[in-house]
Amino acid sequence: MDHFVYKSGQLQAEGVRVEELAEKFGTPLYVYSRQTFVDHFRRFQAAFAELNPCVCFSVKSCQNLAVLRLLHAEGASFDVVSGGELRRVREIGAPPESVVFAGVGKTNAEIRDALEFGIGWFNVESVEELENIARLTGEVNRMARVALRVNPDVDPHTHEYTTTGKRGTKFGIDFDASRRASRAFANDRNICIAGLHLHLGSPVNSAGPYVEAIEKTLRLIDEIRRDGITITAINLGGGFGAHYQGGEAPSAASYADQIVPLLRDRGLEVLFEPGRSIAANAGVLLTRVLYTKRSGARKYVIVDAAITELIRPALYGAYHFVWPVAAGEVFVPAHRGADLRMAGTELVDVVGPVCESGDFLAKERWMPPLKRGDLVCIYSAGAYGMTMSSQYNSRPRAPEVLVENDRGRLIRRRETYNDLVAAEREI
Ligand SMILES: Cc1ncc(COP(=O)(O)O)c(C=O)c1O
Repeated sequence: MDHFVYKSGQLQAEGVRVEELAEKFGTPLYVYSRQTFVDHFRRFQAAFAELNPCVCFSVKSCQNLAVLRLLHAEGASFDVVSGGELRRVREIGAPPESVVFAGVGKTNAEIRDALEFGIGWFNVESVEELENIARLTGEVNRMARVALRVNPDVDPHTHEYTTTGKRGTKFGIDFDASRRASRAFANDRNICIAGLHLHLGSPVNSAGPYVEAIEKTLRLIDEIRRDGITITAINLGGGFGAHYQGGEAPSAASYADQIVPLLRDRGLEVLFEPGRSIAANAGVLLTRVLYTKRSGARKYVIVDAAITELIRPALYGAYHFVWPVAAGEVFVPAHRGADLRMAGTELVDVVGPVCESGDFLAKERWMPPLKRGDLVCIYSAGAYGMTMSSQYNSRPRAPEVLVENDRGRLIRRRETYNDLVAAEREI
């Protein structure tokens, strides 16, 4: 699952005691394990190897340049959704031809940047966007390669806010409209519709929704082909699950067991955009206990991390396992989703210092008694942790450390109070 394990009662990231990292770099602190990124990426690639896919790591899940570089060295390409993410993949020298640019609202400036970069694919989400890309591509006398993001109307059985492949969401183009669009642009001089793109939602903790969506999309590809238009690629997006509790996400191999047979004889180029399944368990968030207190029947553990570092519990009701770094006399649960109601634990809410009742990291958890100064680990924070962070309450963003074997290196420094005001101007 990952390389965050207890040795002699102390949590380690690979070969480094995380307590040492917290002392050196302060808290809150994101800590990543290089080997965990590599293991997850390799497993994904190996599972789908028969399709020889282009695996485009989804930059929105974990965007640090050092992380992008290490995945690039493993053979990853990238999925970007903004000019800022595009800048990141340019910064690390990613080859343009396999970078995909997704997103429902690309601005003219972003489209021009991507054209100038020579982006491999635009994943296009509306007919107006198609028209706009055609116009902007015409201005520079280029040809843009496009995958239409279709909306397959498949329920991924995940949180409402991360459901994207059902009719009625803002994402993708309905099948009928996609077919009409591919006909309308068949002879366009500036865009070539060569692929169909899907992204069902996240996390999609079973292969079933992919199977349903792929079968529907393959039928659409056949219909479009009958119109004389050749679709050469299918992009299956991301959404593959990760273990937050343990046991809830299929392995890459078990997704592949059901997906590969549908595609092996189709002669299509296959792309993926995984983020969470590669990054979630490759990172943790370290935080220290500031205070404890009781309010009514509840006991609160107030830590120095907050929704500003990890918004997923507040936004989606997401579960992250939380446990003290120094297990000491206390046991370490074998299972991150275990019910720990037993002697030696007490019921607490782990909350942050931000001025919102929604600022919680874990609710109603049975944990060993925690006191001021204790270091606590919030697991599975590698995806959509730092990238969804904010400076709300004027909190400088936390630093990031990447551990490789017995060495932890700072890959993003802690923001300062100067950083908080640097972009502001006197009037
Ligand atoms: C179009 C698209 N591709 C890929 C992803 C990555 O999803 P995940 O991190 O669940 O793999 C997302 C996530 O929102 C997305 O919207």
